[in-house]
Amino acid sequence: MGYRAEYDQWKADPEGWWMNAAKAIDWVTPPTRALSQRGEHLYDWFADAEVNTCWNAVDRHVEAGRGDQLAIIHDSPITGSIQRLTYAELQTRVAALAGALAAQGVGMGDRVIIYMPMVPEALEAMLACARIGAVHSVVFGGFAANELAVRIDDCTPKAIIAASCGLEPGRVVKYKPLLDEAINLASAKPDVCIILQREQHPAELIEGRDIDWHASQIGVDPAPCVPVKGNHPAYILYTSGTTGAPKGVVRATAGHLVALNWTMKNIYQVDPGEVFWAASDVGWVVGHSYICYAPLIHGNTTVVFEGKPVGTPDAGTFWRVIADHNVKSFFTAPTAIRAVKREDPKGLERQKYDLSGLRALYLAGERADPDTIEWAQDMLGVPVYDHWWQTETGYTIAGNPAGLEALPVKIGSPTVAMPGFDVQILDDAGHPMAPGELGAIAIKLPLPPGTLPTLWNAEDRFVKSYLNTFPGYYETGDAGMMDEDGYLYIMARTDDVINVAGHRLSTGAMEEVLAGHPDVAECAVVGVSDTLKGQAPVGLLCLTTGVNRPHDEIVSECVKRVRDQIGPVAAFKQALVVDRLPKTRSGKILRGTVVKIADNQDFKMPATIDDPAILDEIRAALQTIGYAKG
Ligand code: COA
Ligand code: AMP
Repeated sequence: MGYRAEYDQWKADPEGWWMNAAKAIDWVTPPTRALSQRGEHLYDWFADAEVNTCWNAVDRHVEAGRGDQLAIIHDSPITGSIQRLTYAELQTRVAALAGALAAQGVGMGDRVIIYMPMVPEALEAMLACARIGAVHSVVFGGFAANELAVRIDDCTPKAIIAASCGLEPGRVVKYKPLLDEAINLASAKPDVCIILQREQHPAELIEGRDIDWHASQIGVDPAPCVPVKGNHPAYILYTSGTTGAPKGVVRATAGHLVALNWTMKNIYQVDPGEVFWAASDVGWVVGHSYICYAPLIHGNTTVVFEGKPVGTPDAGTFWRVIADHNVKSFFTAPTAIRAVKREDPKGLERQKYDLSGLRALYLAGERADPDTIEWAQDMLGVPVYDHWWQTETGYTIAGNPAGLEALPVKIGSPTVAMPGFDVQILDDAGHPMAPGELGAIAIKLPLPPGTLPTLWNAEDRFVKSYLNTFPGYYETGDAGMMDEDGYLYIMARTDDVINVAGHRLSTGAMEEVLAGHPDVAECAVVGVSDTLKGQAPVGLLCLTTGVNRPHDEIVSECVKRVRDQIGPVAAFKQALVVDRLPKTRSGKILRGTVVKIADNQDFKMPATIDDPAILDEIRAALQTIGYAKG
């Protein structure tokens, strides 16, 4: 069946379509129905089923006689090591760690924070939680202690699993001091921290609270898989919103299993046993869905890559990994490809490797610019598929269902809505717009299985953030259009979220940190275009009257402040002192106009601007750091 027929079949009978997809999952108690309503516009999928994620991702493959197949290949150019784990080995290791968690009193519904770099143990920790019904929340290693503390306070974990360090090119990131500081800052305290000691930098353990990863498993019984209800939270993943407080996206267990499993063949074109690689990080949604869960649920081999696209050791690393491990489908962010292209525009490194096994490259996380897509297509000689999704949805909203039917690629479009998603372009009043017209992108409720049912401990915020603007729809926060053939085009965010090197960040959160500087009276952070990272944050600072310290000093303090409080991943390196900010007469800062000036784009003078002359001042200021030169 082709894409159109499949999509139409889903639309005609969504519940029947998903019940059919659910047959690929091993249930303890199969669902009797697909969808149930929990409140106005609030839904659950497969709520009456009982199931275990770890069983489906690990044990069932061993049971089926595939225990000797590789589950994980850890390829770490940064440490110069490669490690391979079979499904049988993974099962033994996960059951032992789950036993250790249980021995520490962690059980059904308890939260566990995981703060780890790209090592197989990060996946083992996630799966061990799933095995016993604990709810994990993985925190990206590039966040500072303060961000970790915010997450500890929000999800109140019983345990934290961390590594002693992560490895960035040229620098060891000592996780343990960050963890200790975060626990000090947080009001909620975990009972126990399980620490994986890495030889690059073992950490000192705090007696009575910290326990060594291996020691924690000595003398404990391996834990069996515990059935959980279909709507039991599998995990919480925090993501940036408009304010400094991150949103705790909840993923319900059963829908997650069913939807991710469907995507592996139909979107990513792999069969069980084949190698799939997503070069992302377990701290992001791509890492959750496509480094850990989906490939394992589907019985693939997943590559856990600890390195960077360039510099570890060169711009051929991606191609070397694809060739060495016979990767069939490869997924990364456009930024990573731009980094490779910048270093090796002629593809000299690529020529060194046999990439004949590769079927396609998949890009997501930010807008894929045509140059990058075309360059990658030329280099690799395989289709390059852009696809659009969000932390909230957990998998593709719009993509090219190449495993079902490879649709013609229109460069600039992530292609079409996947079954499950009724995507519409709406005007401000919520009316559907004609093809080719730009509007807000919304998805008709209910959202499909595997997407967020709510935000952790914040159902009101969930409703307010996503459901109130367009009643009956989920508001994606993206603006764009759809053409006559149903191809989507994603143009911009409608909120204060920016995307830096494929990392989702909140300008509001950065503004909160800058506003805390004693000399800053008012500020704005905008995301300007960056040829490598897609967007880069720039801060505009208005100083408190009477402050006459050198501006350079204040700017450096502000840069350090964001790095210390949000983390290096914010990549906040540029700020400017200005006399005043451009605002509307009602006081709203015109961030969009500042971005257009910085990027040399045409813009319409906002009718409500308080004082148009201020835009010339902003242009002149931006020119001093290399923007607005057009
Ligand atoms: N732990 C600690 N620090 C981290 C980190 C981690 N896991 N990941 C990134 N950082 C740090 C970096 O070391 C860097 O620090 P610096 O300011 O001291 O140099 C900072 O955060 C910014 O990192 P990044 O945005 O990754 O920039 P970069 O210049 O180091 O690398 C790229 C640029 C393009 C190579 C890199 O961003 C990349 O590979 N991007 C792909 C992103 C991706 O896969 N996203 C997932 C969505 S699919
Ligand atoms: P995240 O939650 O980190 O995955 O970020 C989601 C946001 O990234 C989306 O709302 C978009 O703004 C952007 N995004 C993700 N994929 C794409 C894509 N293929 N094209 C354009 N923007 C994208």
